[in-house]
Amino acid sequence: MATTTTHGTMSGADIVDLCRKHTFFEWSAQGSVDPIPMARAKGVYFWTPEGKRYLDFNSQLMCVNIGHGDERVIRAIADQAAALAYANPFMATEVRGKLGARLAALAPGDIDVFFFTNGGAEANENAIKIARAYTGRHKILARYRSYHGGTYGAMALTGDPRRWSTEPGMPGVVHVLDPYHGMARGWDSAADALADLEEIIQLEGAHTIAAFFLETVSGTNGILIPPDGYLQGVRELCTRHGILMVCDEVMAGFGRTGEWFAVNHWNVVPDIMTMAKGLTSAYLPLGAVGMRRPIAEHFRDKVFQGGLTYNSHPMSCAAALATLSVYEEDDLVGNARRLGPVMTALLKDLAGRHPLVGAHRNIGLFGIVELVRDQKTKEPLAPFGGTSDEMRRLSQIFRDKGLYTFTRWHSFFANPPLCITEAELREGFGIVDAALAELEGSSFST
Ligand SMILES: Cc1ncc(COP(=O)(O)O)c(C=O)c1O
Repeated sequence: MATTTTHGTMSGADIVDLCRKHTFFEWSAQGSVDPIPMARAKGVYFWTPEGKRYLDFNSQLMCVNIGHGDERVIRAIADQAAALAYANPFMATEVRGKLGARLAALAPGDIDVFFFTNGGAEANENAIKIARAYTGRHKILARYRSYHGGTYGAMALTGDPRRWSTEPGMPGVVHVLDPYHGMARGWDSAADALADLEEIIQLEGAHTIAAFFLETVSGTNGILIPPDGYLQGVRELCTRHGILMVCDEVMAGFGRTGEWFAVNHWNVVPDIMTMAKGLTSAYLPLGAVGMRRPIAEHFRDKVFQGGLTYNSHPMSCAAALATLSVYEEDDLVGNARRLGPVMTALLKDLAGRHPLVGAHRNIGLFGIVELVRDQKTKEPLAPFGGTSDEMRRLSQIFRDKGLYTFTRWHSFFANPPLCITEAELREGFGIVDAALAELEGSSFST
C-alpha cells in the first residue's frame, strides 16, 4: 500500500521553500513572507524540525487556548474519526447534539441554540443573515477598530484597514467610533461613547438597523477593554430600539479574559454571540453562532437560508467537546483569571523600565503593549496600518530569542495558552524585557 508521509522528512529550510513555492500566505505580499518552519508543539512551546524551541506567546493566532498537543483532545478526534468521520449537515449525530447542549449550559442567559460553521468569519456571515431575517431590517452597525473575518460580509463589518481592499463590499454596514481613539487621545467615558452611538442610531433610523456587531473586547485592534457601563449601555440601547446586540467572542471567548466569555465580566447577555478559535483550541476548525431562544424560535416555521458542507462536522464537534472538558478539568479559565494580575504587574514593570512602552492593557491572559517613538507626544513606533524598521527589528529580535508573538503596526501582543504557568509567563516577559533593551540599545533612540 502506498503511503504519503507528511511528517519529519524535510529540513526547515526545505519546508519553507516548498510552502513559499506552491502555497499562498494570507495578508502578505508573497515575496516578503518569512515563515517559521514548525514541526511539533507541546504545552506552551513549539519546535522547528532542527529543534529550535519557541515560547508561543500568542497561542498561534490567539486560538490554541488549552495549549499544544493535549492527548485528551487528540484521542477524542481519533476516536470520532474511527467511529464516524463525517455526516452531512442534515444528519443528527451524538457529538453535535452533546456539543449544542454543553454550549447552551456555558453560554450566558438564554443563548441556547447554535449553528456550527468552519470558523469565525462564517459565524459572523451567518449571524448577519440571522439578524436580517429575524428583524426584517437590513442595516448593520459595526465599529471601526474591529476585525470580524476575511469573507465578504465579515470584511464589510470589519472596521480596520483590512476592509479597504474589498470595498465596495456588502451594502448596509455603518461604522461607528469606538470608545478608544489611540494613545494620544485616549478613552471616552462610557456615557460619551453611548451618546455618540445613540446619535448615530437616530441619524440612521433605528427601524432600519438589524444589529450592532461588536467584539466584546477587541482583539487585533488593540485588546480594547470597554469602559465599565459601555456594554450595559449598548445592551439597553439595542433593547430599546429593537436592534440585536451581536457580540463577536471569536477571540475573547473561551477563557481568554479570565471568564468563559468576555461578556460575563459585565453581566451582559447579547442576542447573538459568535465564537470559534478557543472552541476547539484550533485542534480542528469550528465556529458557532449562538442565539437566544426567541431568535431560534423565529426559524421554527421560517426557513433558515444558510448551509455549509462541513456544518457540525463530527470530528470538529468531538474536538470541541474534549476541549471544553480540558478547560474544566484543568481549570484553565481560573488560571487565566489568576494570572491576569500577574501579567498586569509584569506589563507595568516593562513600562517602568522601557521608554518605548507608551501604553499597555490586559484582561486575563489577553494583553498588548503599544510602543512609542516619543513618550510626550505618544507618536506610535509605526504608523496606523503600517510598519517601521524598528517594529520589523523587534519581530526579528523576538524570533532570535525564541519568543513567538504577534507584532502589528506599533504593538505586540501577550496572549499565551491558558495552561501557562507563572514561571513560563515570567520567562516570556524576561525575553520581552531583553528584546526591548536590545532594540533601545541599537541605533534606534527614543
Ligand atoms: C474577533 C474576530 N472575529 C472573527 C475572526 C475570524 O475568524 P476566522 O479567521 O476563524 O474566520 C477573527 C479572527 O482572528 C477575530 O479575531
